[in-house]
Parts: sequence; structure tokens; C-alpha cells
Amino acid sequence: MTEDPQVPADAGTKGAAALPRVAVIVSGSGTLLQALLDNAQGYTISSVLSDRADALGLERARKAGVPTAVVQLKDFPDRAAWDRGLLKAVDAFAPDLVVLAGFMRILGEPLLNRYGGKIINTHPALLPAFPGAHGVRDAMAHGVKVTGCSVILVDAGTDTGPIIAQRATEVLDEDTEETLHERIKVLERDLLVDVVERMATQGWTVDGRKVRLN
Ligand code: GAR
Repeated sequence: MTEDPQVPADAGTKGAAALPRVAVIVSGSGTLLQALLDNAQGYTISSVLSDRADALGLERARKAGVPTAVVQLKDFPDRAAWDRGLLKAVDAFAPDLVVLAGFMRILGEPLLNRYGGKIINTHPALLPAFPGAHGVRDAMAHGVKVTGCSVILVDAGTDTGPIIAQRATEVLDEDTEETLHERIKVLERDLLVDVVERMATQGWTVDGRKVRLN
């Protein structure tokens, strides 16, 4: 058991271009991460972290030459220690923005206290409807005719933070959870890239629950 995540020795060094640094945290296949990597202009993906050593997103990062860190719950004595470990791993890369792209855990206080207001999450439903781990399934089960994706600022709740941007798609009679999720992800990749690019290059303002991209 250790609280030391795997972090490369050169982590945290500023790149020559000095573009805003984005840390991406993933749990799964990382197609949203791939979109962020492929379309980075006004920002640089400076690190990719995961709570799963087998996350395909880590492989995508390595292929792109981006430093990675694995912070697995099972390597820590308890959830609080893991939260501290995740903060330490994120800190090591000194990000300006933290993006949760298919990260399937609730963020703990340490990361929120340090990076609150600069952490964004993407979710495959039109929040505040259908928060949680099964946004697509829950929307279908409810029988909605329109669903979509939401990019939000992360707060302490489950998908409750202020909404930055959303896109919608129709639910078709013949949809399965997989076909609908894939159609949502096409929108989601584009939306996430656009939001990160705008936040990195022009900034944003928050007034209560209202977020405005500059
Ligand atoms: C995305 O649809 C994202 O919104 C969702 O996981 C998918 C990741 O896709 N996240 C959540 O459901 C978080 N509650 P990817 O692994 O292909 O990038």
C-alpha cells in the first residue's frame, strides 16, 4: 500500500509554448480524451490520469507522448487516502484545468478544495435529468424522446454543478443503449473540445448557477 501514485520525474514542467495545461482523468476507453488530444490548439493535454491501470485512455495518452499516472483505489488503505493520492498526482502536473472525461468516480474534497471552479465533467444526458453512472440507460428507461450531453463545472454533488454547455439528440424507436450512447458521444466529443478550447483561450465567468464562456 502506498500513497505515492506513479508520476514521471519530469511531471509538472511547463512546456515551451506555455499553453494552458489540461489534466484529463479517465476510467474507460478514452474516446473523448482522444478528441481532446487530436484537436488541441489553444491548450495542451499535459497529463492523463486514471483510477484504472487497464483504462484504454492511458494507452491513447502514451501513444500521444503525454505523461500518465495511475491512482487505483486498491493501492490505498481507504478512500480518503486515495483522494489525497489523486490530488498529489494531479498537482504533480500543475494543470490550469482538470477535465473528467469518462471518469466514473465522485471527486473527493482534496481535489475540489484545490481545483474547485476549474474542474469540468462531461455527462451523457441533459442534466439535471439523469445524473449518475447510467445517464443513457436511465433516460431510455424513462422514455424521453430527446436526450444529449452536458459539460458542467464539478461541485461536491453527483453531476449537480453549473452547466457550461449542452447538446441534444433525438431518441429513436430502434435505439439501444449502445447506439444512443454512441450518437451522444459524437456530439459530446465535439462539445467538449469546443468548451475546453474556449475556456483555455478566452476564459469564463460564473454568476450563481450561470456559466458564460467568454
Ligand atoms: C462519456 O459518454 C461520458 O459522458 C461518460 O462516459 C463516456 C466516456 O466515453 N461519463 C459518465 O457517464 C460519467 N458519469 P469514452 O471513454 O469513450 O471517452
